[in-house]
Amino acid sequence: MPVIERLAAREILDSRGRPTVEAACALKGGAQATASVPSGASTGAAEAMELRDGDPRRYGGLGCRTAAGNVTGPIQEAVRGREFATQAEFDAAIAALDGTQNKSRLGANAILAASLAFARAAAMTAGQPLWRYFADLAGGQPAALPRLTINLFSGGKHAGQQVAIQDVLIVPAAARTIDEALAVAYDVYYAAAKLILERYGMRLLRADEGGMAPPCRTPEEMMETALDAIRAAGYEPGVEVALALDVAASHFRCPGGYRLGGETLTSGQMIDRIRRWIDAYPLVSVEDGLAEDDWESWPDLCAAGGSRVLVVGDDLLCTNPARIGRAMRERSCNALLLKVNQIGTLTEALAAYRLARAAGWDVTISVRSGETEDHWAADLAVGWSGDQFKNGSITQSERLAKYNRLLAIEREVNLAVTLWPNRHGLASRVR
Ligand code: PGA
Ligand code: ZN
Repeated sequence: MPVIERLAAREILDSRGRPTVEAACALKGGAQATASVPSGASTGAAEAMELRDGDPRRYGGLGCRTAAGNVTGPIQEAVRGREFATQAEFDAAIAALDGTQNKSRLGANAILAASLAFARAAAMTAGQPLWRYFADLAGGQPAALPRLTINLFSGGKHAGQQVAIQDVLIVPAAARTIDEALAVAYDVYYAAAKLILERYGMRLLRADEGGMAPPCRTPEEMMETALDAIRAAGYEPGVEVALALDVAASHFRCPGGYRLGGETLTSGQMIDRIRRWIDAYPLVSVEDGLAEDDWESWPDLCAAGGSRVLVVGDDLLCTNPARIGRAMRERSCNALLLKVNQIGTLTEALAAYRLARAAGWDVTISVRSGETEDHWAADLAVGWSGDQFKNGSITQSERLAKYNRLLAIEREVNLAVTLWPNRHGLASRVR
């Protein structure tokens, strides 16, 4: 049984050069592990709170020394020398120590770093790879590997708002292995780079998640460009490579609706627009098509698109069981975007995951736009049988750490990538 010998943390930097927290956990018996937490930019209002130092003279107030100090100080004091039979017991102890709804006292960044470092050390003690430890937490062994959704183009908060929508992603939907999916993504990514150089005279400049940010005037132009890149790479759109969107509509909400390009759309018009996109493009998944506070319109969006695509809630749900419960009752979505740091511990994220599964929803396991070289999210995507894994693009080492980890897991297990569509009786959009 794991007994905590030492728990400490320090401030490190994420892929945007902003501070975040890395924790180290040592258990009696010798297992020692570290884990670091990511950070979002396009955050939901209901997310657990990252604790930042607020000192304007350091990193514009974004320092994480206080959060790291909370791990080495009060969290360690509360758990050192104690035995924790399960992840749930450990997480409950540190969440109780915080005592707030949104982890604002000790910081969700401090708490999650401790939760993950404990998980990794406990897995080592048990002689398990991390993905298997996660699978045991969720109570089942994976039957398939997640399908990749790979960021091709970004707008919105990830790329200076040249287009309101946040991400156009490619989905190598016909690939049966991670290895094959990444090779397809490479072809499409570099075909797109060539194309945007020709069309926009734009060199390969990258957005936060490693996607490109061409100066498209509209979301339609961005999706058309993605389809052209797929064709230029020698693949058939909708057959070999599909598309996914993260609309991230909370971030272009305005009084009276949504500010999309030069237009202001009501919620109903926004739903019509998304329906048109689903008709026109080989989309398999549409995330945050409406804003996090537009609860009354989400059921209409789900009714309009839910039989053809995954209607995914990110900012809407914030990996929060209470919000997921509401979305289930109101039939707001048919898929959860799961980001562990939106809620703050593995155990609470697992509760969110279980609820989504009980409702028959798909689950996309997602990283954040600010990431580190840690690759626990790849293990989580496998261990919790994510239908999709959303990890940004195929450039930048913080993304590749996860893809390379998936390649390693793929060599270890003999599993194929999950088929599309695999649930709900969704009409196949990929022939
Ligand atoms: P993030 O957003 O910048 O908050 O990580 C990613 C997303 O909206 O999915
Ligand atoms: Zn999102």
